Amino acid sequence: MLLYAKSPILHSKNEFERNYIMSIYLDNAATSYPKPDCVLEAMSYYFKDIGANSGRSAHKQAQEASRLVFEAREGIAKLIGAKDSSRIIFTSNATEGLNTAILGSLEKGNRVITTSMEHNSVMRPLRFLEKNRGIKVDVIKCSEKGILNLDDIKKKITKDTKLIVATTASNVVGTLLPIQNIARIAKEYNILFLVDAAQTIGSIPIDVEESQIDMLAFSGHKGLLGPQGTGCLYIKEDIKLTPLKFGGTGSKSEFETQPDFLPDKYESGTPNLIGITGLGASVKFILDKGVENIREKEKKLTEYLLQELQKIKKVIIYGTQDSQKQTAVVSINIKDMESSDVGDILDRDYEIGVRCGLHCAPIAHQTIGTFPSGTVRISLGYFNTEADIDYLLRAIRKIIQ
Ligand code: ALA
Repeated sequence: MLLYAKSPILHSKNEFERNYIMSIYLDNAATSYPKPDCVLEAMSYYFKDIGANSGRSAHKQAQEASRLVFEAREGIAKLIGAKDSSRIIFTSNATEGLNTAILGSLEKGNRVITTSMEHNSVMRPLRFLEKNRGIKVDVIKCSEKGILNLDDIKKKITKDTKLIVATTASNVVGTLLPIQNIARIAKEYNILFLVDAAQTIGSIPIDVEESQIDMLAFSGHKGLLGPQGTGCLYIKEDIKLTPLKFGGTGSKSEFETQPDFLPDKYESGTPNLIGITGLGASVKFILDKGVENIREKEKKLTEYLLQELQKIKKVIIYGTQDSQKQTAVVSINIKDMESSDVGDILDRDYEIGVRCGLHCAPIAHQTIGTFPSGTVRISLGYFNTEADIDYLLRAIRKIIQ
């Protein structure tokens, strides 16, 4: 029985020097591709040789499953500088981590400060609570390049401000936000600080202890090079959130109430074991390579891309245009063309994958002046090369011609 067939879309050929290239993947901000072989091997090992649940039964396969989860948690703790790996909760993505932190910490009458560069994974739970739980959202408007003025945060703080939420970097233009300085302000005013690190985890170093971050949410499938359906939320000691879900944890089974210790308090139900095993392997890969080295490589590629794009008339580049101040994400438009048309041509005629439109971040596009038509987002990853960029640049030049 045929259960799976390779898509004919990905195996077509076209005219443009394309007989040997499969496709150029420049959509790493949506999800990274390809994944290191060790990730596939670990996932295959779990699925073929283990397959059991973790933290429940006591037989050998179950013990091995628990070990794989423990190792993944330890690797992530090392990566983000957390002293206690039990403070790391496995989630299905960054969105679930952000929802756990936002919905679990805010009550009627609280105010939240956030930035105008956030993704809808932050804005939507906040707007939901604004409508249904009587909280107030104060949005700090960033500059057209996505730069945040720290004084604007201080100006918005009131006695009711309970939480500050900020992304480490815009998923639209890559602009880095001054996370350490925001953390200092949050500490000074005794406000909780939640960081969305989905755009930088694995590509830019972060240390939750050093930076005094209270909660850090991120996905496993972007810069961490792990599988989809994985993510984490780090919760500092003494922070108590109402869980997003309740249920079986394999612990304290004699009680009908949720255990109060971590990670069990926030990890009800059978976890995504194959995903967590893959994530454990990808985090090991990242630790072996070194996040600083990954950052250096991506920075060089970004610098090259920016420098070459700047030479092409009719290309409008958004954001800082400075690889020191941004991630490997570059948003552009071609004068007099819709971003979606450019994306379609890149895909159809050149087999280049980028993401166009609003990138689930309408407020960021309003900030940079590209709402509602959006931009063509080129997002590089660890496995891209200068040759990929050269190929993209040739395609852009041809489209403009
Ligand atoms: N948040 C992901 C993106 O920026 C999906 O494309």
